[in-house]
Order: sequence, then structure tokens, then C-alpha cells
Amino acid sequence: MNYRHAFHAGNGADVMKHAALARVLAHLARKDTPFRVIDTHAGAGIYDLGGTNAQKTGEAEAGIERVLAADLPAPAAALLAPYLDAVRALRTSGGSRLYPGSPALALALSRPQDRFLFCELHKEEKTKLEKRIGADARAKVLLQDGWLAVKAHLPPRERRGLLLIDPPFEEQGEFTRLTEALSHAHDRFAQGIVMLWYPIKDLRSVDALRREVARLRLPKTLCVELDFAEVRSLNTLSGSGLIILNPPFTLQEEMRTILSALAPLLSRDGKGRARVSWLVGE
Ligand SMILES: C[S@@+](CC[C@H](N)C(=O)[O-])C[C@H]1O[C@@H](n2cnc3c(N)ncnc32)[C@H](O)[C@@H]1O
Repeated sequence: MNYRHAFHAGNGADVMKHAALARVLAHLARKDTPFRVIDTHAGAGIYDLGGTNAQKTGEAEAGIERVLAADLPAPAAALLAPYLDAVRALRTSGGSRLYPGSPALALALSRPQDRFLFCELHKEEKTKLEKRIGADARAKVLLQDGWLAVKAHLPPRERRGLLLIDPPFEEQGEFTRLTEALSHAHDRFAQGIVMLWYPIKDLRSVDALRREVARLRLPKTLCVELDFAEVRSLNTLSGSGLIILNPPFTLQEEMRTILSALAPLLSRDGKGRARVSWLVGE
């Protein structure tokens, strides 16, 4: 387990994932009944983009910093407001270069009645996560394999909520594990929203993932992808993808609006290409 998210926090892939996460949470918060967020690969919770690791890659400069500085078209700005306001609020209260990872963002965008389970298998990252969000009584942090969490913690007591699966993709077979996890999650929590993140580096793996997920014949499943550049090498992140099972009914249009504004900002050639399509249709 060599992956440290601090090197990549706030990059284009994080922006796209967190923009979608914020829209899903906005949808869940429309009903008063509580929901639960289970984040299987939670990371350290909050990142300092001015710190050594983030500065080594500079990825956030071409990601969240560009987005925060941009004059976004009004419809996209309105949809992104909860997410970007949460980033600004964290900076105001904690430090001007801080960035919320998925746990901090989920907590910031939820209500007192909602609950959170964060799994993180790396000890130091888990300790950081506990320190950063530990005082929040709504959240539990576990040093647990996130793949096992899919079986161990579903369905949640609240019977509504989101399962976020965001592995580091440093081991063989993680694309296959995504499909398996999606299938298990649906068996145990059929009405739940499940969001999977994957890197676009090797188009064959991405095609196979889309095909395998479509073959599961699950209910409505949305695929959202954003290319930052042409695929050049298997080692370079050329795009970012999300598969979302049971998405809120507005999410397809919302992500189209958001990505039409973000694609030119987050892509290396200033053009960017976004795709929002059904793997399993309406
Ligand atoms: C991509 S990062 C998570 C980023 C986070 N979800 C966010 O959006 O801010 C993946 C994290 O998974 C952790 N990890 C790796 N293998 C794991 C496993 N089997 N179970 C749980 N966490 C794991 C890594 O230490 C890393 O912190």
C-alpha cells in the first residue's frame, strides 16, 4: 500500500468525483429521513495543498485551484455551489490551502441525523482521518479493508444512502473487484446509491469494466467520464470515470451541465471531452 492521496488531492479526478458526490448528497438531503454514507477507501479526510506532497505533483493547480478561480457559467456555478462553498468554508476556518477529501465533504454537506462509516486500511492515513474528523459524533472510522466493508456493513440501518468505492488502483484486479463489489452491494442494498471511481489510463480495462457492469443487468446505472488528454501511456492518468448505480433522477443532466463547464478547465489541451451516458438505461 504505497498510494498516498495527498499527492493527488484536488486534482481533476478529485474535482469530478467530489462534484458528483456533492450532487448525490444534495439529493439525499431533500428528504428529512436520515441517510448513511459508507466510504470504503476514505483516505486522510483533509489535505494541505500547500504541503510537500501536493506541491511535488502540483496536480491541484490544474484542478480545484483552477475551478475556484474560474468565472463559471451560472447553471454550472449553481450546481457546484455546495461543493465549492464547502471547500471555501474549510479554507476560511482551517487554512487557505486546505482541501476536503470525501469524508470531510460528506460531513460538511449533511445533517445532524445522518451517519457515516469511513474505512481506511493504511494506519497513518486512518489516524489522520480520525484526528481530522474524529470529533464528529455522526462518524465512525474503521481500520478495515474497504472491499470487506461492502459485505460487512450493508444494508445500513437507515436503508437509504450512498456507498462510495474509491480504491487506489495500485494492485492487479481492482477493476474486477469493482464489478464484484457493485454486484454484492446491489444484492444487499438494492435501493442504495453506489458510486465507483476508476482511472482512465488503459482503455481496454475501462471498456471491459463498462461491459461487465452492463452485463450485471442492474437497475439504472449511469457512466460519467471526463478525458483530461488523449490516452498516451498506461502510466498516465488521461481521464476519470464514475459508475453510479441508482443515481438521483436529476444527476445525468446535472453532470452534463457541470462537466461542460469543467471539461475545458480540467483538460490539458483546454478542450476536454465529457461523456454522460446510461450503462443500463431508464
Ligand atoms: C483514492 S484514495 C481515497 C480518496 C478519498 N475517497 C477522497 O475522495 O478523498 C484511496 C485510499 O484507499 C486506501 N486503501 C488502499 N487499500 C485499501 C483497502 N483495501 N481498504 C481500505 N482502504 C484502502 C489508501 O490508503 C488511500 O488512502
